[in-house]
Order: sequence, then C-alpha cells, then structure tokens
Amino acid sequence: MSETAPAKRLYIKTYGCQMNVYDSERMADVLAPLGYGVTDDPADADLVVLNTCHIREKATEKVYSELGQLKRLKQARPDGMTIAVAGCVAQAEGEEIMRRQPAVDLVVGPQAYHQLPELIARAHRARGERLAADFAPDEKFDALTAERRPSGVSAFLTVQEGCDKFCTFCVVPYTRGGEWSRPADAIEAEARALAEKGVREITLLGQNVNAYAKDQGGEGGLAALIRRLAKIDGLDRIRYTTSHPRDMDDALIAAHAEVPELMPYLHLPVQAGSDKVLKAMNRAHTAESYVRLIERIRAARPDIAISGDFIVGFPGERDADFEATLQLVREVRYASAFSFKYSRRPGTPAAAMMGQVKPEAADERLQRLQALLDEQQQAFNAAQAGRTLPVLFEKAGRHPGQLVGKSPYLQAVHVTAPDRMLGRIVPVRIESAARNSLAGVLELEPA
Ligand code: SAH
Ligand code: SF4
Ligand code: F3S
Repeated sequence: MSETAPAKRLYIKTYGCQMNVYDSERMADVLAPLGYGVTDDPADADLVVLNTCHIREKATEKVYSELGQLKRLKQARPDGMTIAVAGCVAQAEGEEIMRRQPAVDLVVGPQAYHQLPELIARAHRARGERLAADFAPDEKFDALTAERRPSGVSAFLTVQEGCDKFCTFCVVPYTRGGEWSRPADAIEAEARALAEKGVREITLLGQNVNAYAKDQGGEGGLAALIRRLAKIDGLDRIRYTTSHPRDMDDALIAAHAEVPELMPYLHLPVQAGSDKVLKAMNRAHTAESYVRLIERIRAARPDIAISGDFIVGFPGERDADFEATLQLVREVRYASAFSFKYSRRPGTPAAAMMGQVKPEAADERLQRLQALLDEQQQAFNAAQAGRTLPVLFEKAGRHPGQLVGKSPYLQAVHVTAPDRMLGRIVPVRIESAARNSLAGVLELEPA
C-alpha cells in the first residue's frame, strides 16, 4: 500500500479526560484523508486544534492563555494558520471564545467534530458559520468512518457518552449532553479492527460507562458488552472508565469474577464521605452504601485495585464532614485516586449554594486528604513486591534496554527487556515499588 506524504500539518493539544484523548485521535483520523499529518510543533502547524476541558475553572482559563500564545504564532505565519477550539469549553462557551479571541477560526463541540473537514473549508471561505455545537452523538459516530490509526498496544474506545446524573457541582451534563450508548455491533467492529492492528488492551470509555445501554432499556448492559469483546482474538485486556456507584449492577460485578480479560481495576468515584454533602451533591448514594458496594466487588474479585475521585470544600462542607471523607478513605483503602478542590462552575446548582468554603480551609483539607491517599497508594504498590505479575509491554523506557508496561492493576512497571517484547504480556517478578511505578525483572530469561 502506498500513502501520499502529508501535505499539511496538524497540531492537537488535549486537555481533560480520556474521552478527550479518544476524540483527539478521532479528529486526526477524520483529517488524515484531507492530507493532514500530525506534528508536535505548533509553530509548524497549518491547523491547530485545542481539545479543551471545562470541568474546573483552571482548566478553562488555560485555554484562553494558550490561545493568546497561538495568536502570536499565527501572526508570524504569512502562509496562514487555522486555529480550532474543540471539546467541552467549545460547547459551553463557543460564542465567548470567538469574542474573546478573534484569532480563533472555528469552534466545534464534542458531538460535532466529524464535521471538521466541512467547517475548515467554510472557515477558509468566510468568517460566518464557524460554530458547530449540536448534540447528536449518533450522527457523529455514523459519520466517523475514517479508519483508526492506533498509536500503541493499548487503545481507548468510546462506548457511551453524556450524563443524566446532574451532580450539582458538574458541567458535564451540559457540555456532553444526555446519556447515549453506541450500538454494540459498531463497538465490536471497532474493537476487532483495533485488535487486527496489534492492540492488546482496550479501555471502554463513557462519562458513565457502567450505564452503558441503560438508555436503551438496559439490554445486557456493560457486562454483556465486555463478555462479547472478551471473545475477540488478540484482545487480552479490557478495562472501563468512569463508573457511577449507582450503575454498578450485579452482572458487572459477576463479570469481574468470571471474565479473565477484565482487569482487576475499578475507578469508582465517591466524591465525599459525608451523607449530608453527598445529598447536596445529588450523588444518589450514601457513604455506607458505597462501602457495602466495594465489599461486594471485593468479594467477587478480592485483589481488585480501587480508585476514586474526591472533591473537598464543597459548599456546606464542615470539618466533621471532611473527617467523614477521611474515614471512608481509611475503610476503602484506595490503590490510587484523584482529589480536587471544589471549583465553582457558573450555571451549576452548587454555584448558588450557601456556605461556600474558604479557599484556605479547602487547601488544608486537600493536603490532608492527599497525604492519606498517597500513603495508601504507596502501600498498595509496596504490596506487589515479591509477586510475579503479567505485564503488557507498551513502550521503550527512559533508560536504554528498558521497557515500560502495565500491571493488571494499571501500575507502570519498568523492566530491562528486549524490544521484541513490546506488545506482549510477560510474567515479571516485582522487585521494588515507588509512589507511581514498580520495577521488576523478567521471570524467564528471554528466549
Ligand atoms: N463522569 C465521571 C467524571 C466526571 S469529571 C464521574 O462521574 O466520575 C472527573 C472528576 O472531576 C469528578 O469525579 C469530580 O471529582 C471532579 N469534578 C467535577 N466537577 C468538579 C468541580 N466543579 N470542582 C472540582 N472537581 C470537580
Ligand atoms: Fe459529572 Fe456526576 Fe455526571 Fe460524573 S456522574 S459526569 S460527576 S454529573
Ligand atoms: Fe473535561 Fe469534558 Fe472530560 S469537561 S473532564 S473534557 S467530559
């Protein structure tokens, strides 16, 4: 097969969650037939795409400072540079982006990026019609016929988009729209194509991935999808993220006990440990019901690594509420976690709530929570020392002769190993553990 050399250069910068990472890849796929090849230097690019995140104020503000820098690059380019803003800030603040930064040529929301080729052509003709922010994930996926070009042995695959949960702090239901699931046939076809290109591990993505198919009456759900994908030759590892405790059903828990391809790792955010705060967040679960749920999951899969998200300083959070969060963390024992200071998002119900917490108090709580979570992460990693784990080698390490792979528990593992082991799953004896990674040796001498 011959491919013509890319005539135009595309630079994509991705912020936010894994779904944005997936979307960025698909944008590159959609633009490849137009002759765009990816570059990692924005100064050199004909088209720059910022794929943005709206989740916290800081993430949003970064976009505007980045656009200021891009404007200067654009001015230095008499041959022209097109600047596109995609993602959740595009969806939420499209008009404002174009007003605040005239160097922006077009704005495209997360459900409209399949229209990029047309939008680019239009932006080049005139400065009208530069905003695409429709909510039609079905149309997007139907139009995304471009071949995927996976860059490694592990790939993301979006199976569900949007959110109907309306946690009172969160912008996602507004930026991504309502819950919608892709048909299982389309997902299987994409997974098979990935496996044929050497992908060994897929991570199924959704804002509420374990609500998969519940918008269509629940037929089978995520567990059935996982069992179906596990049959694909060459796909040895399946993961999924992010889940809501409310949708963690028995069938999915059973899959963790019964499907060997389903990896023993679960990201199940709880956000807080105080029932009063959980209620104000509209989480629709209690601290107790969450802890019981974790117990049931561990009964099915005792070694499972649990990960979570936390928010400190939610409006009305008192010291006693924060202590309840620490108590829940001690009970659950997390393998890893993300914790954030509450960020007040315009338009969300929590932004108007009484009892906004002082930044200094929130800072202090965040530090205490992170110290505890770090300690737990270290302990989880240290517990692997002396064990032999199957490691999927993904890429070269920083040192010559070294490869980096992933344990079943999503830990990075550094091993001295030959390049031909890339893409293979190999037993590794773990010798030492650090905060963010493990180091080990090949259990068997390479043949
Ligand atoms: N759909 C996923 C991910 C949502 S965003 C879920 O429900 O878990 C990822 C995390 O960002 C959330 O879990 C939450 O911990 C955090 N987050 C969301 N909105 C926030 C806000 N306004 N301030 C601080 N953190 C926030
Ligand atoms: Fe946001 Fe809650 Fe939906 Fe997660 S479940 S995306 S935190 S509204
Ligand atoms: Fe951010 Fe949108 Fe993901 S707000 S976290 S990029 S869904």
